[in-house]
Amino acid sequence: DPTLLLTIAGMVQFNQYFLGQNVSVTTRATTVQQCFRTVDLDEVGRTTRHLTFFEMLGNFSFGDYFKAEVIPWAWELVTTGLGLEPDRLFATVFLTDDDAARMWADSTGVAKDHILRRDGKDNFWSMGVAGPCGPCSELLYDRGEAFGATWDGAGKLDDERYLEIWNLVFMQHTQDDEGNIVGDLPRPSVDTGAGLERIAAILQGVRTAFETDTLAPVLKAAEAVTGASYGHDATSDMSLRVLADHPRSMATLIADGVIPSNEGRGYVLRRLIRRAVRHARLLGVDRALLTDLTGVVVDLFGPVYPEVARNAELITRIVAG
Ligand code: GLY
Repeated sequence: DPTLLLTIAGMVQFNQYFLGQNVSVTTRATTVQQCFRTVDLDEVGRTTRHLTFFEMLGNFSFGDYFKAEVIPWAWELVTTGLGLEPDRLFATVFLTDDDAARMWADSTGVAKDHILRRDGKDNFWSMGVAGPCGPCSELLYDRGEAFGATWDGAGKLDDERYLEIWNLVFMQHTQDDEGNIVGDLPRPSVDTGAGLERIAAILQGVRTAFETDTLAPVLKAAEAVTGASYGHDATSDMSLRVLADHPRSMATLIADGVIPSNEGRGYVLRRLIRRAVRHARLLGVDRALLTDLTGVVVDLFGPVYPEVARNAELITRIVAG
């Protein structure tokens, strides 16, 4: 999508199919999509949830299946497929979406008092710019008391404890840049977004994405090169998280052809490099260490993303400055 700086969600490359401007070769697709959220850049490190780069899992219908099919499929996949305990799952639906509420109740095993209605802030999805949009329905997973307060049955759910793992967007409308709904899609469609790192954390029984097998090796390398140890001090933990997160983004951006500059994507890359260097300094390390960390990323990601392996030397050269 040439109107976007970077791929912010798993669906952006499908915009023209949702909008009916181009005919897809298929009416269904399933993806693992590299995503990058610039809006979260300053949050990364502060929380254990935010990442700049992440991998989004998706299944898509371009005017093919809709709510009645995808709701029971989502349920089947997370319970039978991934093995998550049904009692720990909550389904949220958009305030006025009676159909979705009924389908969760009638065609899945979710507890009736675990179907919650929420407003557009949580349950209406758009790209944030002009494009397809629609009400959404999320699955939340209760990670237990160790993660936060028990829901009181009426108020807001604690985000850390009741983690959003699945988002079914029922793509039906188009919006303009100001967020006004300006039309309907030619055919109702589905866009599913599920963060791989969050699901991996649950399946691997670890607290955060930083402890999963896709990020823990980078975090370990950051500990080794800085001499800091994770889990003992809030300030150094934040810096270690920055040093675990940013090298993945640097490596994948460079592998996709981005080079540091003063504008656009290049400026995002430059900010990532600067922010990582600053956090290394905060941990008392002045020597260049980013290449050690991007080296770990290349080893981890190279076998999965060939462009990362192919550009290993370029990644090192650019990150070394
Ligand atoms: N496009 C759906 C999501 O990002 O959650």
